[in-house]
Amino acid sequence: MSTLLHIEVSPWAENSLSRTVSAQYVASWSAANPDGTVITRDLDKTPVPHLDVESLSAGFVAEADRSEPMAAKWGARMYLIEEISGADEILISTPLWNYGIPSVLKAYIDNIVIPGVFDESTATLTGKKVTFVIAQGGSYADGSPKAGWDYASGYLRQFAGAMGATDVEVVTIEFGLAGVVPALEAFIPNKEASIAAGKEAAKNRAAA
Ligand SMILES: Cc1cc2nc3c(=O)[nH]c(=O)nc-3n(C[C@H](O)[C@H](O)[C@H](O)COP(=O)(O)O)c2cc1C
Repeated sequence: MSTLLHIEVSPWAENSLSRTVSAQYVASWSAANPDGTVITRDLDKTPVPHLDVESLSAGFVAEADRSEPMAAKWGARMYLIEEISGADEILISTPLWNYGIPSVLKAYIDNIVIPGVFDESTATLTGKKVTFVIAQGGSYADGSPKAGWDYASGYLRQFAGAMGATDVEVVTIEFGLAGVVPALEAFIPNKEASIAAGKEAAKNRAAA
């Protein structure tokens, strides 16, 4: 029996492009894995805390000597690590915000990466299929005026690869702001095409 860990980030519900496309992935995955389990971690509804002095210093203090907040924060980090370690597949869908990933997703990654526990040496994501769905407002494709401004996809690929994953795919949805901001009005057809292509890619990837 297979387990899919699905991490959501967007604060929007039905208006979220990343959630729309990841919903297609989950539907196709569930059809292909009728006995499978989907674990949804919604970082918008239940954000993980940013690292602070207690969550960090707990790693340097013997278990018996940890204060109560230290132990609780360390325990929460271990829970997240166990959750992702136990999954066979990982799907992270996220908006692109200010050229990178939203801070709730960065906080999640900061919580789980712990030297010697979950890092390059443990390579815990080895053998896991990892898919990122990234929705962006415009386009940073090669040849576009802002080519190279996307710091989300490279970073997420780096994270997954450093943790040992080799089967990594990024599905990008472009022109999310077409029809929302007047300057991008002409790109509504591109947006629609990008959503359709993203759903198709998600469907194929989930069933592969
Ligand atoms: C705070 C914020 C920052 C954004 N920054 C960017 C950006 O740097 N580049 C971009 O292309 N779109 C940017 N956008 C647009 C979103 O990426 C776009 O609306 C996308 O559809 C969001 O994904 P979602 O629909 O799943 O929430 C930003 C949106 C918000 C709310």
